[in-house]
Amino acid sequence: MSGVPEMSPEKGPEHPDFWCKRFGKGVTPWDAGRVPAALVDFIARQPTPLHTLIPGCGSAWDAAHLGELGWPVTALDFSPVAVATASDILQNVPVNLVCDDFFTFTPSRTYQLIYERAFLCALPHKLRDDWGKRVAELLPSGGLLAGFFFVCDQAKGPPFGILPEELDILLQPSFQRIEDTAAEDSIPVFAGRERWQVWRRR
Ligand SMILES: C[S@@+](CC[C@H](N)C(=O)[O-])C[C@H]1O[C@@H](n2cnc3c(N)ncnc32)[C@H](O)[C@@H]1O
Repeated sequence: MSGVPEMSPEKGPEHPDFWCKRFGKGVTPWDAGRVPAALVDFIARQPTPLHTLIPGCGSAWDAAHLGELGWPVTALDFSPVAVATASDILQNVPVNLVCDDFFTFTPSRTYQLIYERAFLCALPHKLRDDWGKRVAELLPSGGLLAGFFFVCDQAKGPPFGILPEELDILLQPSFQRIEDTAAEDSIPVFAGRERWQVWRRR
C-alpha cells in the first residue's frame, strides 16, 4: 500500500532468523545452561566415547561437556548467532562446531550417536517426517538416537509437543526404543513433559 512502510512478517522457526533474533536478544528459555542428569548417566554407561552429532546445538553446553570428556562431537546449528554463542561457551574445548542446516548438510563422517535436546520440539510439524527420515539416514545399523523428547499435546510452539504415538510413527520404522524414563531435572518450559529416550537404529 502506498505511503505505508511494509512490515516484513516474522519468519517461522524453520528459518535461522527466528532463532538468531532470540539468541541476539538473549531470550532463550529452552537453554538449560547445564548438562542434564540423564545425559551424564548415559555417558557414564558407555564403554567407549561415541562419535556424536548434536543437531540444533544452540549454546552447546552438552557438546562442551562431551568434548571435555574426549568424545568426538559435531555440534551443528543453522543460526549464525547461535553458533557464535556456542563458540563463546566452547572456547578451546575440542568440538567440531558447524553452521549448517540439519536437513541438507554433508556429514564428514558416520555418527554412532545423535543427541537430541530441544531440537525436534523446535521444528514445525511439517518438518517432522523429514526429521525422522534424516536421523535414520545419518545413523548406521546399531547407531543410537538418545536424548530428551517433549511428549505432550502442546500444539502451539515452539516448543511443539509430540504425542507418544506420533513419535512412534516417526521412529518405529527404523528404530527400536530401548530406554524411556521421565526426565528428573527439566527446566520450567519442559517440566513434567520431558522424557529421556534411547532409540537403536535397526
Ligand atoms: C530450542 S533451540 C535448542 C538449542 C539446544 N539444543 C539446547 O538444548 O539448548 C533449537 C535450535 O535448533 C536450531 N535449528 C532449528 N532448525 C535447524 C535446522 N534445520 N538445522 C540446524 N539447526 C536448526 C536453532 O537455530 C536453535 O538453536
